Amino acid sequence: MNSPNKPALLGGTPVRTEPLHNPNRALGPAALEYLADICATGQLTRVGGKYVDRLEAEFADWLGVKFCTASSSGTAAIHTALGALQLEPGDEVICAPITDMGTVIPVLAQNAIPVFADILPETYNMDPVSAEQRVTARTRAIMPVHLAGNPADMAALRDVAARHGLLLVEDCAQAYGALWQGEKVGTLGDIGCFSLQQSKHLISGQGGLTVTNDPVLQEILSIFPHKGGPHYSSLGARNYLQFGYNYHLTELQAAVALSQLPGLEALCARRAFLGDRLNAKLAGLPGFYPQVVREGDRCTYWMYVLRVVAEEAAVPAPKVAEALRAEGVACGYQYIGKPIFMYEAIRRQQVYGTSNYPFTLRDGEPLRYDEEYCPGCVEALDEMVVIPIHELYTDEDIDQIAEACAKIATWAW
Ligand SMILES: Cc1ncc(COP(=O)(O)O)c(C=O)c1O
Repeated sequence: MNSPNKPALLGGTPVRTEPLHNPNRALGPAALEYLADICATGQLTRVGGKYVDRLEAEFADWLGVKFCTASSSGTAAIHTALGALQLEPGDEVICAPITDMGTVIPVLAQNAIPVFADILPETYNMDPVSAEQRVTARTRAIMPVHLAGNPADMAALRDVAARHGLLLVEDCAQAYGALWQGEKVGTLGDIGCFSLQQSKHLISGQGGLTVTNDPVLQEILSIFPHKGGPHYSSLGARNYLQFGYNYHLTELQAAVALSQLPGLEALCARRAFLGDRLNAKLAGLPGFYPQVVREGDRCTYWMYVLRVVAEEAAVPAPKVAEALRAEGVACGYQYIGKPIFMYEAIRRQQVYGTSNYPFTLRDGEPLRYDEEYCPGCVEALDEMVVIPIHELYTDEDIDQIAEACAKIATWAW
């Protein structure tokens, strides 16, 4: 007999046959209006334009910060932040091991050394105790990632930063609208960095935003993505004040992002609602542990992270992902497959030609980017299942995702 609870992977009836909403988001009439305006004037770059200026000003308002600087990607936004820190070659930045490569590239590009803290198993975010253990005389900054829209433990990280005189740079690429104890992430450290890449809560295809309340940092932040010089004048002699890059966001990209700003809070709130609904429904399933959202925080679920502990669950994480897909639930096993430092680009510690610079500048024990470096992270990634969340998922979609999880968790495989 075919039990109604038999997983589709074993030949049972899938929970759903309609695909869930695809990851894209249609742009509204304001985007068309702004783009038509740009086409009519032919003004594609910010100097002489208005959309990049408006995006910076209105995003700063939205977030509640004094300054915002636009750039060409989330990676560029982080690079801009690190440029403003005036790092010396060989200075160390404490990074999160579960992230996009775009978090680490800027550290290396500034000839600084990425040092990785382990994660907290219940949130996958940076462990403040591990971060503190990594502090050396060369450490200048801590750069937590609010993974999947879930705020890192900012109280403890701020405390570590304050006690050691370090700057705190928040990587908020995945965390628009996320609240740490009621305060928006990106406003909690010295600098916050956002990505406007296609999959994020606010998008322009590619793009980035760097925010701060500090006028001194802002002096460099505002010019770093513009080849290190002021960008307000196209006539007269130019002035280059600081090493920088050409990381301009175009008017076209800014207009597209700007058009979405009025709807951003509603989008974040909807994602928070849907993710929390799924959390509540999965509570108590054996071996299934959703990413924990701290009491008083708001997670805005860039993705939904589920930890499947093999010793407790009926099936291990890779099989859960496979079984969920068979039930009609889009889902993946893992986000990155190993800690970011174990990818060749970082692991071999060779950035510039055959030299090992800047790693050769490290005092004391050389870093070994292997399994032993952040063991908690290795283990957590092995058990990580990722379910996409979209603001256009219905409540019923979430209930079906929960039903599919329950089917898999309770079947006697
Ligand atoms: C946590 C995190 N940091 C940095 C980045 C880099 O952003 P971008 O792809 O816009 O360069 C991303 C995104 O892709 C990210 O998810």
